[in-house]
Amino acid sequence: MNAVINKDRLWESLMQLAEIGATPKGGVCRISLSDEDRRARDLFCTWARDAGCDIRIDAIGNIFARRPGNDAAAAPVVTGSHIDSQPLGGKFDGAYGVMAGLEVVRALNDAGIETAAPLEIVDWTDEEGARFAAGCIGSGVFSGHRDLNDALSLSDAEGTTVADALREIGYAGDIAPGSIPFKAYFEAHIEQGPVLEAAGLPIGTVIGAQGQRCFMVTLTGVDGHAGTLPMAKRQDTFVGTAKITVALSELAATYDPPAVITVGHVRVSPNSRNTIPGRTVFTIDSRHPDTDVLQRMEADITRICTDIAKADGLELQMDAVTRAEPVAFDPGCVDAVRTACRERQIRFMDIHSGAGHDACKIAAVAPTGMIFVPCEDGISHNELESARAEDLATGAQVLLDAMVKVAG
Ligand code: GLV
Ligand code: MN
Ligand code: MN
Repeated sequence: MNAVINKDRLWESLMQLAEIGATPKGGVCRISLSDEDRRARDLFCTWARDAGCDIRIDAIGNIFARRPGNDAAAAPVVTGSHIDSQPLGGKFDGAYGVMAGLEVVRALNDAGIETAAPLEIVDWTDEEGARFAAGCIGSGVFSGHRDLNDALSLSDAEGTTVADALREIGYAGDIAPGSIPFKAYFEAHIEQGPVLEAAGLPIGTVIGAQGQRCFMVTLTGVDGHAGTLPMAKRQDTFVGTAKITVALSELAATYDPPAVITVGHVRVSPNSRNTIPGRTVFTIDSRHPDTDVLQRMEADITRICTDIAKADGLELQMDAVTRAEPVAFDPGCVDAVRTACRERQIRFMDIHSGAGHDACKIAAVAPTGMIFVPCEDGISHNELESARAEDLATGAQVLLDAMVKVAG
């Protein structure tokens, strides 16, 4: 029994999916719960049904596509990722994990192989956090990290809630999130960093991921005339935001690598050339593999925001939108990935994830592992993100072998 991944079919599916929300420089814009996300979800559902899967949608919009096993009572072995993207994202971040799952099912169908436990492919809702700031909303609710009603009431910059957006695209399902127990969860993903490429290795067996603290910050000052108000009298929230941004960048440098802090989203109001910005909303994303360090970083970030706001006469509101602890993946799942590599004589290395993933949430409720493949120059969250068809197929083959071994 040998089910073999079809490299060209996997590549073709990724390229077809990437046509939905395609951007001029070869990336995708498939913001969570947008019309592009809906079209990509519809296509995935069509392909999964054509491959013999049953589709179910839960109340936070996660899509589950099940390939039945011959033991109907067994918990499924699950794989997946996300098909939403950054505003200027790449073709592979997330999409690869979902398409790799689909290719696993197609390859098993071709080989006429039935597993004991069912296999399941998931598209998790809003992994990226580009629209509702939080990120990993679907997997977070599924795993109990986030309350369903809180998640449904999160709103985007226009005031549209997750609940409204789910209804609008027709993906507000009826099954309760978390009601499907998993035998195991494996997620394939591009590395999004330079390590595997530099090592010349096609596979990273992911042993864990760093933690995050993310904040939504609002500075309130006073709108004013750009031509008449003397500099000394201004309460300019964009100047305050700029000072905080520079101070946080300097703060990150005082910690040892891999400490990172990013101000990635800024909304200036009223955003007019000749009005002093009286209100600015921005995000802070901080990460480190060690919880104690994360806590110290959070205290430093809070102090910096408080001090600068006070000195500039600005009102500060700071909400933690994500507090995710560092994750260690399940030794059994990590080993299943290593064994799959060894059995096909595929070279691999253990690796840590700098990015957050749905797998980091699912690790709390099911034995979980991840498979990384290299991406060109380590570039991700960028339209130019690229990966080799060969490596993507190798990752999917390792995924297939690990899933089949665990499913029996
Ligand atoms: C997801 O892409 C993240 O790491 O924030
Ligand atoms: Mn991703
Ligand atoms: Mn991403």
